[in-house]
Amino acid sequence: MLVLGIESSCDETAAAVVVDAAEIRSSIVASQVLTHEKYGGVVPELASREHLRKIEPVVDEACRIAQIDLRDVDALAVTEGPGLIGSLLVGLVYGMALALALAKPLVGVNHLEGHIHAVLLENKMARAAGKPVREATLPAVTLVVSGGHTSLFLATANTSQQNLGCPIFAYSQLGHTRDEAAGEAFDKVAKLLALGYPGGPIIDRLAPFGNPLAIDFGRIKMKGNPLDFSFSGLKTAVLYRVRGTELERESEERRTWRKTAERANSDELRAHCSSATLDLLASFQQAVVEDLVERTLAAADTGRVDTIFVSGGVACNSLLRARFAEAAKQRGFEVFFPSPALSTDNAAMIAAAGYYKLRAGERAGPTLTAHAAFPLGVK
Ligand code: KG4
Ligand code: ZN
Repeated sequence: MLVLGIESSCDETAAAVVVDAAEIRSSIVASQVLTHEKYGGVVPELASREHLRKIEPVVDEACRIAQIDLRDVDALAVTEGPGLIGSLLVGLVYGMALALALAKPLVGVNHLEGHIHAVLLENKMARAAGKPVREATLPAVTLVVSGGHTSLFLATANTSQQNLGCPIFAYSQLGHTRDEAAGEAFDKVAKLLALGYPGGPIIDRLAPFGNPLAIDFGRIKMKGNPLDFSFSGLKTAVLYRVRGTELERESEERRTWRKTAERANSDELRAHCSSATLDLLASFQQAVVEDLVERTLAAADTGRVDTIFVSGGVACNSLLRARFAEAAKQRGFEVFFPSPALSTDNAAMIAAAGYYKLRAGERAGPTLTAHAAFPLGVK
């Protein structure tokens, strides 16, 4: 089954053609980083307008690369939420119109479910290519960690005679962030220190040059559900270390310098960072990563599950990958990450998640609509 996936929940306009949730024929992602970077975050109104401009060329490009005509597509899958409502509506309405015009089936997909399917899709492709990787099986505790989300789910799959070997997936939410997402904290700390946008990849590249033990931010304490997250306190602790200090003056200098060096690479940026700034970044990253790893392992322990999936933009983080790999080895867990291109927002993951829904007979009608908040599974 050839599924055209469409994703537009935040600041990436994406379309992909995926076969049987197992082979990516094309995956096109038009990033809006250049539009939003001067604001240090996504501006919803600008994002919607960019999606409007990009949606048609991106879908056309996905078909061109896959060497298919739109009429060859068997079905469509579109992200219905959660996300920015104006952004979501562009991809959703475009997908609905295409499905209607082509008389093809359509399903709506939860963006978070898409991130989870990125892991399964990547794993299938790696195995089909003969790479020596274990099969990613369910049940799995899955951490979805990005600029908009930080949530833990228990993902299960039910493969019965009735669904002819095609699994039906179910999710229950084990925990979520009570304030900011981890990626948002990375982005805001980078903005505070005038390092650029998006902050996650920049901090990832600079942090290895600082001492992660320089500042002990302490563990993030949670009342109630120990599998919930909170990063706003940590971000505020960083703010207090900067405000009114030499680091603030240095950040202002960097802000002025960056205006003249817009496309500076990370070596040039590092040359404009003192060791105190690099130490702060390394300690901040360490605190976020330790918290993510600890709570995910605790969720796996609690659920007696030995498979962990990690997905979403922050899953690109090198320290996070290394720490999970280390912890997995020590404690006997299997940890699966998608490649960086499938970790950040893309439409291949939406097509993959949509495939199983289509196989299960799910169809979206004309009432399909976008949801800014769209919980996956029940708490
Ligand atoms: O999944 P994604 O593309 O979009 C959302 O659904 O939010 O994730 C984007 C987020 C941004 O906050 C970005 O700073 C963060 O992922 N990110 C990273 C890294 N690469 C992207 N955070 C930490 N380390 C990275 N290497
Ligand atoms: Zn995402």
